[in-house]
Amino acid sequence: MKIQENISLKPYNTFQMEVKSRYFSVLPDASALEDQEIPSQNLPMMILGGGSNILFTKDYNGWIIRNEIKGIEEINEDNKYVYVKAGAGENWHRFVLYCISRNWAGIENLSLIPGTVGASPIQNIGAYGVELKDVFYCLEAYHRHDRKIVTLTSSDCEFGYRDSIFKKNFKDQFIILNVTLRLYKHPVFHVDYGAIKQELEKMKIDELSIHAISQAVINIRSSKLPDPEQLGNAGSFFKNPLIQKLQYNSLIEKFPELPSYPSKNEFVKIPAGWLIEHCGPGDGSATWKGFRRADAGCYSQQALVLVNYGKATGSEIFRLSEEISASVKKKFGINLEREVNIV
Ligand code: FAD
Ligand code: EPU
Repeated sequence: MKIQENISLKPYNTFQMEVKSRYFSVLPDASALEDQEIPSQNLPMMILGGGSNILFTKDYNGWIIRNEIKGIEEINEDNKYVYVKAGAGENWHRFVLYCISRNWAGIENLSLIPGTVGASPIQNIGAYGVELKDVFYCLEAYHRHDRKIVTLTSSDCEFGYRDSIFKKNFKDQFIILNVTLRLYKHPVFHVDYGAIKQELEKMKIDELSIHAISQAVINIRSSKLPDPEQLGNAGSFFKNPLIQKLQYNSLIEKFPELPSYPSKNEFVKIPAGWLIEHCGPGDGSATWKGFRRADAGCYSQQALVLVNYGKATGSEIFRLSEEISASVKKKFGINLEREVNIV
């Protein structure tokens, strides 16, 4: 691996933060890790995929390795499933389209999520009623300390809502090299979530297919989420909070309009976008939605997305996120947890 110095990370993060990494390398395949010497043992190291879930608040005084391990392979099949292994550096959405083109079902609802295949297990990506864990089979990862490759199954990964072991006990320990999914040969359609059905009706689809669902999801996402090429962002900045039913019941008395996601246990998931929309900066405006200070803002179509209008710094975005959380806490008594990784 060639090690470059003082490299701008602007092309490598979707918030488009203008920061530098002291050292920077591209990882083309797993074997490049074997003889690699760390530039300095005392510096941190970080794996970067598409940089679509990261907010850089300062220059990175360490070594960034950008994962570009490629390759998609059908490794096994039976009557019901096909097992597909993809290199961690494959673009997630291109991988989704590749599977749809072969009629392999299960990830069509996850269309248009930015980033890489290798990052998909880190927060167990999810959208429109499907999560990665629903089709995940296993992954191979390089243990940075032991310098060996291990295979981890779904139960090893401890997937949860926007969560996995890679954000907890295994944080910063592994470099994910490839991911194997178990996809359906005969599709099971998920169309109950959000506006998928309405969108399919609008598209005048005669026969339901994974291709049609993918297109419906693409249409919905394009209408409400900013394209990072046009406007820097990292998707939902916060997770949707899970609150106790008791707290929900007292909130709903005060705020009868408060929406919630269907829940199967004692917790209720509340859309953070609604909470943020119904709080404000305290400068006379009633909502954060559409708020802008210099180049840091809260997106006008989706309050859960913070945006960089051009020259915002990571610290400005971070400060805005702190103010938003504080006002949500003050009005609703709910703590928002960040989804985006702060570096
Ligand atoms: P990065 O941002 O590069 O990295 C994220 C974290 O994973 C970092 O901590 C990094 O060190 C670690 N990491 C990355 N690759 C590896 C690896 N190979 N091995 C070990 N660690 C690694 N997410 C959703 O779940 N659902 C959505 O609907 C969704 N919509 C989005 C919409 C927009 C417009 C944007 C900008 C983002 C959205 N996201 C969504 C968030 C983001 O796309 C996902 O979290 C995605 O999986 C991040 O991939 P990445 O390659 O860009 O990861
Ligand atoms: N809402 C508002 N105002 C807003 C935004 C949302 O009131 O400005 C309310 C509305 O009631 C709306 C509800 O929130 O019906 C849900 O909004 P939306 O469908 O846009 O979904 P979300 O909960 O904001 C979550 C994920 C997204 C994922 C979509 C679709 C989280 C943190 N976010 O967003 O994931 O694409 O659902 O499944 O779970 C991401 O993780 O980066 C991401 C974009």
